[in-house]
Amino acid sequence: MKALVKYAAADGAVEVRDVPVPEASPGAVLVRVHTVGVCGSDIHMWHNSQSKSSVGILPVTLGHESAGEIAAVGAGVEGWTVGDRVVCETAASICGRCALCRAGRYNLCPYRAGYGLKRDGAMAEFLVAEPRVLHRIPDGVSFEAAAMTEPFAVAFNAVVERAGVTPGDLVVIQGAGAIGILALQVAILQGAATTVVLGTDIDAGRLATARTLGADHVLNVQRDDPADLVRTLHDGLGADLVVDATGVSVALQTGMQLVRPAGSIAKVGWGPQPLGFTIDPLVKKAVTLYGCYSHTWNTWERVLRLFADGRLHPERVLGGRYPIEDWQEAFTAMQEGRNVKSALSLRGETR
Ligand SMILES: NC(=O)c1ccc[n+]([C@@H]2O[C@H](COP(=O)([O-])OP(=O)(O)OC[C@H]3O[C@@H](n4cnc5c(N)ncnc54)[C@H](O)[C@@H]3O)[C@@H](O)[C@H]2O)c1
Ligand SMILES: [Zn+2]
Ligand SMILES: [Zn+2]
Repeated sequence: MKALVKYAAADGAVEVRDVPVPEASPGAVLVRVHTVGVCGSDIHMWHNSQSKSSVGILPVTLGHESAGEIAAVGAGVEGWTVGDRVVCETAASICGRCALCRAGRYNLCPYRAGYGLKRDGAMAEFLVAEPRVLHRIPDGVSFEAAAMTEPFAVAFNAVVERAGVTPGDLVVIQGAGAIGILALQVAILQGAATTVVLGTDIDAGRLATARTLGADHVLNVQRDDPADLVRTLHDGLGADLVVDATGVSVALQTGMQLVRPAGSIAKVGWGPQPLGFTIDPLVKKAVTLYGCYSHTWNTWERVLRLFADGRLHPERVLGGRYPIEDWQEAFTAMQEGRNVKSALSLRGETR
């Protein structure tokens, strides 16, 4: 089968390879992948610029934002049948025994191995999955939409489960990539009174998308100072919540400036650069800083339900589906800000 493989820890060491179709081992199922979203982290893996804590086991097939159907069921698996439409969580394997797993916080399990990093991922025709990670795609939700469950789950975890937007809040989102745009949708759903999305020169189209999705204000930080805008909003004291969805360290410095005293910062974006500035404003303003990482079973079920209800809009951010051979074009379109989200299509039509 075709698979998009990162084969070395070097910039550009990614290619489509012909690899054996894996087997549905006992206790696991084989998923025939239909659509797989491209994640910023896949692009980092391509350029070997991933966070230092994201150490992959190479060679590895990339991709973790998959939707497909069950093609084979391994011995001992109950409750799943060939043909079931499913999405797979990212945590391909966890220990199941540590304190975090037992408390249902397996996104933080020290032994967690994620697809596309430590386990062969979904940018391939087939994927092996434990039933633990499977969720049924509701009727009426397309594979293309369902493939966006994972990034929405990241946004939902940050905005709802970690930082918890309160109706009436002023929410500033730094970054107009997939995570920022999806965090915007979740913040509006959660009752934010005013939303602001910040981007850079490459984000003109994405900021326009943010406007159509309901952002009250959008701003290019390379042209305008967001502090001038935020000072004019609500009572002028700053944002109740700042969501950092950028991946650049300097965003935290701006975030500390934009957040109100006793407000919160949800840090989703990450990257290897050191800070290079003081974090004293965090102290002086008594700000709560939430590290936000991944998601768990409940997050996925809720996001899928909101897709089915039409209250979150994955179809409005999916900017193109490409055959796996055109992965470089798919990755580049996202990297250059030409769309919010690209996807690879392993079956069906592309556009
Ligand atoms: N914590 C998690 O579980 C998790 C999960 C997924 C992604 N992420 C991280 O979240 C971040 C965002 O992901 P993405 O896929 O949307 O990435 P992306 O690269 O597509 O988007 C980043 C956006 O931030 C903008 N940006 C850069 N500097 C900025 C600044 N100073 N102010 C405002 N905007 C700025 C960029 O122009 C771009 O629009 C990345 O760091 C990614 O690794 C974290
Ligand atoms: Zn992702
Ligand atoms: Zn564990």
